[in-house]
Amino acid sequence: MAFVQVGETLELDLDRVRRENVSGSSSANARIELVAIIEGQASIHRLPAHGSIVLGRGSGADLDLDHASVSRRHARLYLGDPVVVEDLGSANGTRLLTTRLDAQATAQTVDQRLAPNARATVANTAALHLGSVVVLVRRSTDEETAPATPDGMVVASPAMKGLLELVDRIAVSPLSVLLVGETGAGKDVVARAIHARSPRSGGPFVAVNCAALPEQLVEAELFGHDRGAFTGATIAKPGLLETASNGTAFLDEIGELPLVHQGKLLRVLEGGEVQRVGALKPRPIDVRFVAATNRDLAREVERGSFRRDLFYRLAGMTLAIPPLRERREDVLPLARHFAARAGAALGRPAAELSPEALAVLERHSFPGNVRELRNVIERAAALAAGAVIAPQDLHLETAATPAPGAIAEARDDEPRGDDERQRIVDALAQCAGNQTRAAELLGISRRTLVSRLGVYGIARPLRERK
Ligand SMILES: Nc1ncnc2c1ncn2[C@@H]1O[C@H](COP(=O)(O)OP(=O)(O)OP(=O)(O)O)[C@@H](O)[C@H]1O
Ligand SMILES: [Mg+2]
Repeated sequence: MAFVQVGETLELDLDRVRRENVSGSSSANARIELVAIIEGQASIHRLPAHGSIVLGRGSGADLDLDHASVSRRHARLYLGDPVVVEDLGSANGTRLLTTRLDAQATAQTVDQRLAPNARATVANTAALHLGSVVVLVRRSTDEETAPATPDGMVVASPAMKGLLELVDRIAVSPLSVLLVGETGAGKDVVARAIHARSPRSGGPFVAVNCAALPEQLVEAELFGHDRGAFTGATIAKPGLLETASNGTAFLDEIGELPLVHQGKLLRVLEGGEVQRVGALKPRPIDVRFVAATNRDLAREVERGSFRRDLFYRLAGMTLAIPPLRERREDVLPLARHFAARAGAALGRPAAELSPEALAVLERHSFPGNVRELRNVIERAAALAAGAVIAPQDLHLETAATPAPGAIAEARDDEPRGDDERQRIVDALAQCAGNQTRAAELLGISRRTLVSRLGVYGIARPLRERK
């Protein structure tokens, strides 16, 4: 019964995922993957979704686990939903270690030794010990692995699926869209998805980071300038908005656009024309606007720091992207997606996440959202000694929720000590004083960073906002 193609690695799998990403199709078939770890060396095998296989040592077994502690016919796996294991009267026994989260979200491991010929269900988070060989078996649907959309988005939670449906519907309309959500939640990827799914997808997608534009250059950058408009303007130059013609302009961090320039932007949105600095006449442009912010713009309007009329113009439709902690179903599919991508970048097969590592991810709160998860997995994939990511590779505290590098979002005004102050100072130094980027690095919102600067008495390094 040797129908198992032993040694077929996950690389083949990745190719398939890539093909599906290109064609946009996806099969609903479940598949079973087995990771065998023999003295620290892991090999990954794809198994059929049905039937049964014998694990053992030598050619008498369907899957050869070449280690002295393994019997020739050690255990049988019944492949299906769920996967079931049976010990075949092995010399050193079969143990099933199942990790579950208890009501306090603490990982508990149940260690069960199987009697000869006894059967047990193998949960996705379980590890089998055949003698001293560790076997992980995972029954995965495509949903759980990497169902990346053609635009590279992984969407598994009902909340994000709903949001993407909305994206499909509004993409075809000319409506301006305002994307709101915490830092790292995916505003950028959603903006790109809106463009990619719109009739303008053949045109340019021009992203403008309003926080990164130096104040003196905002006008010239956004609206362009004519020759001789100011000292140094030796040639005429179209602005970013003009270069987005027939496509989409993505106004990122729109909440950071200084009040003085908001009126001119409003005129572009209302009139569909842009006037270069120093030009006599405006030029018509055909641009779809998508804006994003992690600020509460409505509050900024109330405070008078954002123009109400511009707010309403930009928010033809508002899409709120929920933080990752409110859509936990996305955590594992995203983690596997990033592990596969990191593996491909490192020229290796995707690293598997150990059941313990998955448990740690499942209870982390991810204040830095998807970006933090991506950073955690990319770092872990680079650090992991074998083909399996262990909890310590994640560098996330297992007891408390926030990552060591992260700063809790809540209770802005409460100092947390020298350590945190130093991390903020370091992050600012690393980002040349750019608060937005430093906040990103710390996995917190810019708002929180700014308030912490006050708490710790750190001088604000960039221009003060009006
Ligand atoms: N659904 C998703 N699928 C795959 N990757 C995602 C998804 N959402 C976010 N990401 C990735 O996470 C990272 C952060 O996402 P993104 O840049 O879109 O966040 P953002 O909301 O724009 O953050 P910021 O407010 O800091 O600008 C990016 O690397 C992005 O590719
Ligand atoms: Mg962004």
